[in-house]
Amino acid sequence: MFAHYTRIMSSRRDFLKNSALLVGAMSFGNLPAAIAPLPEPSDDESYWKLLRAQFPLSPSRIFLNNGTVGPSPFVVLNEVQQDMLEIDTTGRYGGHEETAIKALAGFLGTEESEISLTRNVTEGINIACWGLPLKAKDEILMTGHEHVGHATPWLNRAKLHGVVIRIVPLGKTAEETLKNFKDRITPQTRVISIPHIPCTIGQVLPVKEICTAAREKGIFSLIDGAHPPGMLELNIKDIGCDVYAGCCHKWMLGPKGTGFLYVSAAIRNDLQVYYAGGGFDNGWDMLSTPPVLKGYIDNGHRYYYGTQNASLFKGIAKAVEFQGQIGKKRIENRVKQLAAYLQDHLTRLSPDIEMLTPVESVSRAAQVSFRITGKDIQKLQNQCNEKHIITRYVAENDIKCLRISTHIYNSFNDIDAFLLETEKFLKS
Ligand SMILES: Cc1ncc(COP(=O)(O)O)c(C=O)c1O
Repeated sequence: MFAHYTRIMSSRRDFLKNSALLVGAMSFGNLPAAIAPLPEPSDDESYWKLLRAQFPLSPSRIFLNNGTVGPSPFVVLNEVQQDMLEIDTTGRYGGHEETAIKALAGFLGTEESEISLTRNVTEGINIACWGLPLKAKDEILMTGHEHVGHATPWLNRAKLHGVVIRIVPLGKTAEETLKNFKDRITPQTRVISIPHIPCTIGQVLPVKEICTAAREKGIFSLIDGAHPPGMLELNIKDIGCDVYAGCCHKWMLGPKGTGFLYVSAAIRNDLQVYYAGGGFDNGWDMLSTPPVLKGYIDNGHRYYYGTQNASLFKGIAKAVEFQGQIGKKRIENRVKQLAAYLQDHLTRLSPDIEMLTPVESVSRAAQVSFRITGKDIQKLQNQCNEKHIITRYVAENDIKCLRISTHIYNSFNDIDAFLLETEKFLKS
């Protein structure tokens, strides 16, 4: 089926040659002395090939697991490294926080005052989950496709405070999913807390419509946005959620250990603050009687505090700039094209392929998850590992599937190489 195989091999040889020419030494542990200039954006295959050389990601690796963590380009790594060096050379304290917030707000379509800087999605979800004013027996609607970082904060709150979690099944289409949520709203429902794109099957949920339904009933909406930032042309205001917890270390290609929490200004005074520290307050006085906290700062900084890694903030701004130079829409189109190509070819490969990611175009983006009837799909992951093709076996929620993620450093040749392994596995 894959006459492309010879094309893969020769183009990988070309790629190795081009990469070496462009960025010079790329040995592990070294940043290149000079970073190749970004190529002029275009939709040609040759453009994406040049762009691949902006990443230290080893040319001998086919990385199809951006859903776990996204490799940063050289420009981001360099920015962080230089800034860390400057801090330790000069003793500078802090900085770049406003730059990162400004960049994120522009990138995500929010007000700057609605963005808090977090370390990851889990932290953002915990802040929101603990801060919402809930009591025992209040109901939270979630899905059966949650990641541990979204599930456990709520399970913990259920354990400690008696809130009740209700699971809503995902539909095969956006319409069916929306209906499932609407049908399960009861007078006890206080929060709908769902992934924009679940970590299991990469389905894009109709979050805008679900949040509208929530708002109409006075229900809080919380979105676990681990995957979409940097993948979709995201505009959080347009979704209309109360809270969106995202990270910069997946599709945004930012430094690891960076994230954001969007809290709509409209619910800022409802979402209570439980961690307190430098920067979060509007004045405090330990010498008055009694000592007082005068209030919270009127922006997202009320949810974080203390000394932070300023260099990572600089890296976030650089990642946003990098994506902006390529173009958000161009990125979305590219990652979707690669995933659609994979999904279409997989479904044609064998009737034994059990496709879990919906085929409906509004419900799919840059992840494809599948199983193979009668086979242990984890063995395909092991086989791929031997060829340096990196995938993600998903055991969460007993799904037991293989998830393939696509990003701008991937090519159709990468997908062909994976398809070839799948074809061999089917025959084995
Ligand atoms: C859907 C989803 N939610 C939450 C998380 C947790 O993200 P983080 O590790 O940034 O806390 C992940 C991580 O993969 C995820 O895929």
